[in-house]
Amino acid sequence: MVISVSHLKKYYRIHKKEPGVIGSITSLISRTYENVRAVDDISFSIDEGELVGFIGPNGAGKTTTLKCLSGLLYPTSGKVSVLGYTPFERKHEYLKKISLVMGQKNQLWWDLPAIETFLLNKEIYEIADDQYKKTLNELVDLLEVESLLKVQVRKLSLGERMKMELIAALIHAPQVLFLDEPTIGLDVVMQKKMRDFIKEYNTRHASTILLTSHYMEDVRQLARRVIIIDHGKLLYDGKLDNLVKRYAKHKVLSIVLETYVSPDKLSEVGELVEYDFPHAVIRVDRGASNMAASQILQKFPVDDLNIEEPDIEDIIRDVFTKKNA
Ligand SMILES: Nc1ncnc2c1ncn2[C@@H]1O[C@H](COP(=O)(O)OP(=O)(O)O)[C@@H](O)[C@H]1O
Ligand SMILES: [Mg+2]
Repeated sequence: MVISVSHLKKYYRIHKKEPGVIGSITSLISRTYENVRAVDDISFSIDEGELVGFIGPNGAGKTTTLKCLSGLLYPTSGKVSVLGYTPFERKHEYLKKISLVMGQKNQLWWDLPAIETFLLNKEIYEIADDQYKKTLNELVDLLEVESLLKVQVRKLSLGERMKMELIAALIHAPQVLFLDEPTIGLDVVMQKKMRDFIKEYNTRHASTILLTSHYMEDVRQLARRVIIIDHGKLLYDGKLDNLVKRYAKHKVLSIVLETYVSPDKLSEVGELVEYDFPHAVIRVDRGASNMAASQILQKFPVDDLNIEEPDIEDIIRDVFTKKNA
């Protein structure tokens, strides 16, 4: 087991100020504090080489968890262990084995070419010359950035910069990788490139990766296992496939009609969620999907019919609303 989190809690203490002038004065005299329960008793463990998707809505506590795991934050309570280390002790030896990449933050020197930051990291992480060259060449190849190494960082596009950020974060060949929204803000093509890279990197190096993302496509493509949190609590930990089986109450029949059928008629089979002739989408109960499909084939002039799983986005929304209900 590489990562072990046990009953982790992280509360932020924030100063609460009443609005207005009176509030300002009052808060000068007596400060009132409030606890934000960013992470509220979560436990999970991750094995070597696993690539796990860590998902949840905004403010769920994902970044806070990753910061606790990478040693940037001291937990309020609970136990965190990564590669046998206690992250918040921030031992040099530990920091050499991990990396945290945040899509919205950067470590590159803005006014210098990226290669300068890589060289700096080489010193910080005490990477041997041949090891440095080997790793750099591999990453530069994989990310296709050969020609950009000597360009001032501020002149790079967002996507190019993100690639360089990844190199800076991986140059010391960390065993464990925390990726916080690595594809945020990137265009679809660049998102896919990042995704391909992460996948390839994970297979090549058997590195352990915990990845958060807003984009379900990232999770769908990369992770077989997902951990879902909301309001600092763990809602689900398991295979993405099982999540679908367990929570999806319906299936989706996607139909192409030969000739026009009225929406009323189509609605007799199930819930008509989309109709743009000749294409119709009908939602039916999971257990009744085969029946509904054969009904459709008998009743209507059908060109094509597919039974599909609902979108993962929908399922996860279901999970959240169930939890909050
Ligand atoms: N430094 C901080 N001080 C006070 N509250 C914070 C701080 N950082 C995050 N929070 C709060 O903690 C909760 C979890 O935030 P975060 O871990 O960033 O969630 P996520 O990454 O899932 O969007 C949110 O309510 C957020 O407003
Ligand atoms: Mg976050």
